[in-house]
Amino acid sequence: MDAKLRSSECRENGIPLGRLDGRVAIVTGGGEGIGRAISDIFASEGARTVVVDIDPATAQDAAQSINEAGGRAEAVEADIANQDDMSRLFATVADQFGQLDILVNNAGINVRGDMRHVEDEQIERMLETNVAAVMRCVRSAFLLLKDSEKASIINISSIMAVRHMPHSGLYSTTKGALSAYTRSIAVDFARFGIRANAICPGYVETAMTAQILRMPKLREALEDRTPMRRLGHPHEIASVALFLASDEASYITGACIPVDGGMSIGL
Ligand SMILES: NC(=O)c1ccc[n+]([C@@H]2O[C@H](COP(=O)([O-])OP(=O)(O)OC[C@H]3O[C@@H](n4cnc5c(N)ncnc54)[C@H](O)[C@@H]3O)[C@@H](O)[C@H]2O)c1
Repeated sequence: MDAKLRSSECRENGIPLGRLDGRVAIVTGGGEGIGRAISDIFASEGARTVVVDIDPATAQDAAQSINEAGGRAEAVEADIANQDDMSRLFATVADQFGQLDILVNNAGINVRGDMRHVEDEQIERMLETNVAAVMRCVRSAFLLLKDSEKASIINISSIMAVRHMPHSGLYSTTKGALSAYTRSIAVDFARFGIRANAICPGYVETAMTAQILRMPKLREALEDRTPMRRLGHPHEIASVALFLASDEASYITGACIPVDGGMSIGL
């Protein structure tokens, strides 16, 4: 029997199967790239997965393909930086599922530029999307996560929290803040049984990196600076998110895990 069919049959008959069975997960920016790979693997391990994306078409597409494969997913169109959208998201999750066990703050943006000429609008947009929106999202999620026995927050930070490239000042600043924030909530929320960890990917082939990776010299330079001599794939980040969300990581909190082919430790 087809594995996907078998898993949906087991679920229908109440037979536990996946590592995230019985859990509800929100994945922001879940329509594409790393977020989509995380949505896919969470749903394949039994989580009811809420795919949140500013782009409704990608969110719908991701949820549809999960549902067709026998998993359970909902698409929600929302801009994480829009407070009305986020209030609507958490009200929907509370109404529809009555629980939340996993929050993945994956949605993020990258504005590159020379720090001598950085514009106010760029500073505000980057801090708003990559840091402030995550803080507000966690604040709302806390009200549901505190009642879960398996609560896990996973923030997608970056190797850029600790390594730097020209014209990455804004991005590095926001990801450094996100890693620090992750450690901070890990300490504050431990007594509520909520774990919080970050993943720090190196260069991963997605829409975000497509433009720079199309430049052969730059791509080669990045591969050369990576001990494993290659870039990462979204599923290689998703498998670590699955581990962090699962019971296998039950004693891990406050960690910022590099998933970067060794780039952060050098050649
Ligand atoms: N690709 C990499 O090399 C890399 C490396 C390190 C860290 N990261 C981080 O991983 C995360 C995902 O990156 P990716 O490469 O998959 O990006 P991506 O651009 O391929 O996908 C991001 C997804 O988030 C959505 N999104 C963007 N802004 C949003 C918003 N305001 N509200 C809701 N959804 C929004 C987009 O529509 C898209 O579906 C980001 O936080 C990024 O900073 C990526």
